Amino acid sequence: MLNDQRIATYLRGLAEGEDEPLRAARARSEEADIPAVPAETGGVLRFLARATAARTVVEIGSGGGYSGLWFLGGMDPKGILTTIELDASHQSLAQQAYAEAGVAGRVRSLLGPALQMLPKLADDSYDIVFIDAEKSEYPEYLEHAKRLLRPGGVLVADNVLAGGRVADQLVDDEDTLGLRNFNAAVTEDPDLSGLIMPIGDGILVAVLAE
Ligand SMILES: C[S@@+](CC[C@H](N)C(=O)[O-])C[C@H]1O[C@@H](n2cnc3c(N)ncnc32)[C@H](O)[C@@H]1O
Repeated sequence: MLNDQRIATYLRGLAEGEDEPLRAARARSEEADIPAVPAETGGVLRFLARATAARTVVEIGSGGGYSGLWFLGGMDPKGILTTIELDASHQSLAQQAYAEAGVAGRVRSLLGPALQMLPKLADDSYDIVFIDAEKSEYPEYLEHAKRLLRPGGVLVADNVLAGGRVADQLVDDEDTLGLRNFNAAVTEDPDLSGLIMPIGDGILVAVLAE
């Protein structure tokens, strides 16, 4: 296993660092008790956006805007991030982060419960869908993601290992069950080719069939 602490520290040292807007967004998220993705997960988000030259990304769970800034840093310069957030105070922190980074014009920020907002988004239109909101709802987000992604689009989900709880069959709280069911549903879906990377709290990536 490559999850030795020395290796994690080494990899972090090699990773591209945070710029000032990212650092400020992370600090504000911590202050507001919003669990932002770790920087190494942010690096994966930016890599995926860059590798796919993403022009359209949907994010479920804006938080304080930290993960959104990583996406925007890798997307096509004309690309638009559509991000959904339930909590108005989190949304305003995220909007502050986009403004400070000079990318507010590339963000469509939607306020409301994801399961009410997702049906308003157009089918087959998005290069990437990123899931990082209510863990028990991940299986329902998956159904929407499949509808929203263009053929060949990429599904990304954070926290899919939940600190190891998903791998412990004795843990059966609602969030862990949601994540376990989500991981199984992606794996068993013939239209999705995916894998779980043990980076941060576990990142699932999957490509929708062309
Ligand atoms: C883990 S945080 C997102 C962190 C953010 N992606 C980042 O890394 O900077 C989860 C966010 O999802 C929001 N959330 C929770 N349930 C939601 C729902 N049903 N619909 C939309 N947003 C939700 C929370 O308010 C919180 O801001």
